[in-house]
Amino acid sequence: KTIALLTGGTTGEWVVSVKSAATIAQNLDADKFDVYKIMLTQQGWFYEPADSVKIEVDRNDFSLTLNGKKIKFDGVFIAIHGSPGEDGKLQGYFDMLNLSYTTCDALTSAITMNKGYTKAIVQGIPGLHVAKSAQIFNSIPYNTDQLKKDLKVPYFVKPNNGGSSIGMSKVNHADDLQAAIDKAFNEDSQILIEEFISGREFTVGVVKLDGKVTVLPITEVETAKEFFDFEAKYTPGVARETTPAPVRAETRERVAKIAEAVYVKLNCRGVVRIDFILSGDEGDFHFIEINTIPGQTATSFIPQQVAAMDMKLNDFYTKLIRETIG
Ligand code: DAL
Ligand code: MG
Repeated sequence: KTIALLTGGTTGEWVVSVKSAATIAQNLDADKFDVYKIMLTQQGWFYEPADSVKIEVDRNDFSLTLNGKKIKFDGVFIAIHGSPGEDGKLQGYFDMLNLSYTTCDALTSAITMNKGYTKAIVQGIPGLHVAKSAQIFNSIPYNTDQLKKDLKVPYFVKPNNGGSSIGMSKVNHADDLQAAIDKAFNEDSQILIEEFISGREFTVGVVKLDGKVTVLPITEVETAKEFFDFEAKYTPGVARETTPAPVRAETRERVAKIAEAVYVKLNCRGVVRIDFILSGDEGDFHFIEINTIPGQTATSFIPQQVAAMDMKLNDFYTKLIRETIG
C-alpha cells in the first residue's frame, strides 16, 4: 500500500508531531508499505525526498508528481497533533476526496478537540466523574468575579482546543485567575476553567484492532512539578511513568470499562488516549480529556503501552492501518 504519513501542523504542537511521525516512519514495515512523509506547514504541504528538495502536494486530489509520474495514495496516516490534524479539518478534506485515514471521523475529531464539549458528552457514563468547570469565549463578555464565586481554587485554566499543556496554568490563588485567562486566550478563543481534582493520574490507550475495541495496559503518571506540563511531557526523566500501572485488578478493570465506554460513546476509530484522575484511595475516576491523535514520540505513552502488551510497534501500526484504511 502507498501511504502518506502526514505531519507538522499549524499549532505549537507541530514539534511533537514531527517526533511522532519519526517513530511511525521507523516502524512501518517496508515490505508492506510505501511511505511518503508529507510535512504540512503554513507555507504549504511538502514532500521532501532530500535536503532542500521540496515537492508540493496537489491539493485538488492530494497527489504528488515525482519525475513526471503522478503518485496517489491508498490512505493517510495522520500524525498531526492539534489543528488541522486532530480537529476534523483534514478529516473533512479527506472525506471529500474519498481517501481513508487512520483517525476518528471529522465530527468526532472536531468535538473531542474541544475539552468543554467533550465533557458534556461523556458526562453520564456510569462510574465516570467530570470536574466542575466553566467555559468562556473571548467574543462574549465574562465576569471573572463570578467565576471566582462559582468555582473553588485551585483550578486549571486551559485553552479549550489545545494540547500538550500549551497555554495552560494551574491557579492556586483566585487573584491569579485573570492572568491565567489572559495567557490561555493567547492560544485560543475559548477557555475551560476547571476545578482541580487531587489524586493519581492515569492515561489509557484504546484502539480498535481486528474489529475489536481493545484497551491497552494503563499508565500511571507522576511528576514532581505542579502538573504534567510541556516540559514534563517531553523531557525524559521529568515525570515517572509506570506501565502497567500499579493498581488493584478491580481498579484496572473499572477504568478499562470506562475508557471503552468513552471510545464507543464518542464513536472513535483508530487509536486514542484518555486521561483520568483517580481521586481518593482507588476511588472515583474523573475524566480529564481524550486525545484522538495521541503522541507517538519515543517518550510517549502509546508506544510504552503497546510494548507492555508484548506487541511490536510495527505490528501495531500494521493492524491499525488494516483496520482503518484496509
Ligand atoms: N497532545 C499530545 C501529543 C498527546 O496527547 O500525546
Ligand atoms: Mg492533550
